[in-house]
Amino acid sequence: MLTYFLFTFMLASVACENEKKPNFVVILTDDQDVVLGGMNPMKNVQRFIGDKGVTFTNAYTTSPICCPSRASFLTGLYVHNHLTVNNSLSGGCYGRSWKYLETQTFAATLSGAGYNTFYAGKYLNEYGVKAAGGPEQVPPGWKEWHGLVGNSVYYNFTLSNNGVPTYSADLYLTDIIRDLSLGYIENQTESQPFLMVLAPPAPHQPFEPAPRHKGVFSNVTAVRHPNFNVADNDKHWLISMPPSPLPDEMMPELDRVYRSRWESLLAVDEMVADVVEALDTNSLLDNTYIIFTSDNGYHIGQFSQVYDKRQPYETDIKVPLIIKGPGIQENVKNDQPIVNIDLAPTIISLAGLKPPKTMDGKAIDFNNNITKEERTFLVEYYGEARDGTVDPKCLWNYDDENLAQCYPDYACKCQDSRNNTYGCIRRIAKRINMKYCMFADDENFIEMYDLAKDPYELNNIANDVLPSIKHWYQLTLARLLACRGNVNCDNPFETPNVIIS
Ligand SMILES: *[C@@H]1O[C@H](CO)[C@@H](O)[C@H](O)[C@H]1NC(C)=O
Ligand SMILES: *[C@@H]1O[C@H](CO)[C@@H](O)[C@H](O)[C@H]1NC(C)=O
Ligand SMILES: *[C@@H]1O[C@H](CO)[C@@H](O)[C@H](O)[C@H]1NC(C)=O
Ligand SMILES: *[C@@H]1O[C@H](CO)[C@@H](O)[C@H](O)[C@H]1NC(C)=O
Ligand SMILES: *[C@@H]1O[C@H](CO)[C@@H](O)[C@H](O)[C@H]1NC(C)=O
Ligand SMILES: *[C@@H]1O[C@H](CO)[C@@H](O)[C@H](O)[C@H]1NC(C)=O
Repeated sequence: MLTYFLFTFMLASVACENEKKPNFVVILTDDQDVVLGGMNPMKNVQRFIGDKGVTFTNAYTTSPICCPSRASFLTGLYVHNHLTVNNSLSGGCYGRSWKYLETQTFAATLSGAGYNTFYAGKYLNEYGVKAAGGPEQVPPGWKEWHGLVGNSVYYNFTLSNNGVPTYSADLYLTDIIRDLSLGYIENQTESQPFLMVLAPPAPHQPFEPAPRHKGVFSNVTAVRHPNFNVADNDKHWLISMPPSPLPDEMMPELDRVYRSRWESLLAVDEMVADVVEALDTNSLLDNTYIIFTSDNGYHIGQFSQVYDKRQPYETDIKVPLIIKGPGIQENVKNDQPIVNIDLAPTIISLAGLKPPKTMDGKAIDFNNNITKEERTFLVEYYGEARDGTVDPKCLWNYDDENLAQCYPDYACKCQDSRNNTYGCIRRIAKRINMKYCMFADDENFIEMYDLAKDPYELNNIANDVLPSIKHWYQLTLARLLACRGNVNCDNPFETPNVIIS
């Protein structure tokens, strides 16, 4: 009897020990690339997260544009399943279908499991605007809410402070997010676990550094990889449109954008140091997972484009991803392919809960650091366009309702077009590193790159591979574009070896 009692008592105390849930702090930057050196200014992120955790060197977004990517981050769903296809309300960005999905985010799951939850900064681009219901709404799952109304800005913004719109003209948004975070951490205790998402505007356009950081990188210039400002004629229509290459007059502007982005990130880097210190001071650091990532990458000058995202190249789809926390190895690199739809199931799983099978992504296996496991995933993008977007000073004769942002400031190069709509397969394994993209344009244009041999994506091999290989990619793409749920989205087809004729 006594042994029985002792035994159950011991079991109970073990269960209790296991039930001490970890905390989460996610830092989600806006448009921060990893390919062009976007992490270089992040010395504190390296010191406090990278050196203490795992850096994923093959992390990708499933759509290189803010609102669709953020919807994927929150729900663990591919774009074709959450239906936030672009940054407009009409494209599902904080639109009607989102209202249901918003109850299914990882925040809603953790909140339902007893977590304190906190959000500060940019959410979905259309959050809080009048047509989307205004800033009085607090999205489900967030108990402490400081969502930014609209898209990223650095000054002159409205935050919804738990449903109360608060306008600020001259405060610097990243610093406000830091202050709100520090205040929140001070009030947290070990007795209740918490989840925080900090979503600063940097380094998004207009690339505005805090005054204390202006000029810090005044000598830095945009990196010139072999694909910088090359006139490329084997890529899809938007890339091949003139001017190609860009005129020399654009180069100082590209350099300015590059260094301003770095400078704007310094306030984020300071915020990370302050947040880590506050967690430490309050004895919360050891039981907290810290995740640092970005919604999508960025290009500056590649293939004679100006500066933006929205393209299927590595600059735009590859993102930083660093995670530290209890049980995670310190100071290691991990080359497993990870996608943004994995983050929701990863957080749910680290919280000791079961990720829903309806999520398309899968929880990261932190013990898998040895073999680069085969992974085939999807990148989808729906080209944006707007009426009257071709500036008359740009002497193009295009049907301008199918184009976006063709301005003299951009050397009249358009930043997007309706037919810049594509689905890509990204396939990564030990000896395979492939990309296959098909565009929904008049030509069903195909781009294909062997990144193992051609990391700068200079040679489109679509016309060189065996038809059977191309066929496999095409079928897999069609399959993935229709996939739903983890099992389905993770097992598209049997995989042949890539043979280039
Ligand atoms: C602040 O934003 C409002 C609304 O977007 C705009 O009308 C105003 O000119 C802006 N003020 C400054 C100082 O940027
Ligand atoms: C911290 O808790 C105190 C006491 O409950 C409360 O008055 C204060 O507003 C809280 N601060 C923050 C930043 O949540
Ligand atoms: C920039 O480079 C010039 C010339 O090399 C140097 O004199 C100057 O100190 C540098 N400025 C900064 C801010 O590093
Ligand atoms: C992989 O992880 C194991 C334990 O999780 C560790 O012992 C080993 O050193 C790691 N290997 C590498 C290459 O990081
Ligand atoms: C966003 O998507 C919707 C639905 O497909 C479309 O009607 C709208 O034109 C798109 N917005 C832009 C700016 O392209
Ligand atoms: C893409 O759209 C533009 C604007 O409508 C058009 O001029 C161009 O011919 C299209 N290209 C292809 C390949 O569909």
